[in-house]
Amino acid sequence: MKVTIVGSGFVGATTAMRVAQKGLADEVVMVDIVEGLPQGLALDMNQSSPVEGFEPVVRGTNDYADTAGSDIVVITAGLPRQPGMSRMDLLGKNAAIMRDVAERVRATSPDAVLVVVSNPLDEMTFLAAEVTGVPKERVMGMAGTLDSARLRYFIAEELGVSPSTVEAMTLGSHGESMVPLPGHATVGGKPLRDLVDEQTLERLYQRTRDAGAEIVGYLKKGSAYYAPSASVAQMVNAIAGDTGEALPACVWATGQYGISDVFVGLPARLGRGGVRDVVELDLDRAEVAALHEAAEGIRERCADLASV
Ligand code: NAI
Ligand code: 2OP
Repeated sequence: MKVTIVGSGFVGATTAMRVAQKGLADEVVMVDIVEGLPQGLALDMNQSSPVEGFEPVVRGTNDYADTAGSDIVVITAGLPRQPGMSRMDLLGKNAAIMRDVAERVRATSPDAVLVVVSNPLDEMTFLAAEVTGVPKERVMGMAGTLDSARLRYFIAEELGVSPSTVEAMTLGSHGESMVPLPGHATVGGKPLRDLVDEQTLERLYQRTRDAGAEIVGYLKKGSAYYAPSASVAQMVNAIAGDTGEALPACVWATGQYGISDVFVGLPARLGRGGVRDVVELDLDRAEVAALHEAAEGIRERCADLASV
């Protein structure tokens, strides 16, 4: 199993470290345009292997030839947000970077499953699929696993319980049109709705929507990377291990929930071939309407990409 991580910044490097440390791949290749950066980080990570007890499988490079034949390519290349910036403010610059990266990935790893992380997430996932032209089931974006992890953490904090006892999922878009699913959230097996009132629920959802910006506000330079890299590693684990685990991911809709021909956050079973299928949960009318709104927003922004 060969996993390439494009972009050796905060998210790329922490993802490489997690994938290597968890033993998810035989080879982890980090590639970046900055000379020396991926090489230095790879050396540093490998030197932690005797202490942490994992195989030193990380390699850093500026040459895509070293990434050839990857099974999974995670794309984190691109600018992160600065205070006051929305994810959409990154669109122009990151679209140019994504076009460049996607062409190189198409040439070197045509059979790979692609996991897009660069923002704005939904639009960059669409662009990666368009430029590479690979079958849509082999392209997905990471956002739902992160937004769901954040929501689970906020619920656990609110109720003073371990996050491991909390199940919750968000779908839709990575941003304002994130769609939380209150009917599918549980704490210790009990419905969340029985434990907190509607006002509290809404506050937790809004904090989740704003969670990325809250961290950008503290960091001043750049954005979150520990929870994002953990969330990518969760997806890599499902793909590399061919587990069929259902995770929320930005995937190509083919009629599920009445939505077609757009990349949007939906629960999807992941395996070696990418998306095995989209899971059709029992959603109420408001949740389906919110999903449609998110999908239509993404569709409009993707249509605008041609002029960017
Ligand atoms: P960063 O600035 O630390 O790293 C980005 C890296 O990309 C840099 O090392 C840069 O040299 C590299 N890069 C730029 N152009 C490149 C190219 N053409 N080819 C290869 N590498 C290139 O940023 P960070 O924090 O790692 O974030 C990366 C991206 O991920 C940002 O767009 C950020 O907004 C996004 N992000 C998305 C999340 C999500 O939930 N989907 C969560 C967190 C970050
Ligand atoms: C986040 O949600 C910035 O999308 C990134 O942290």
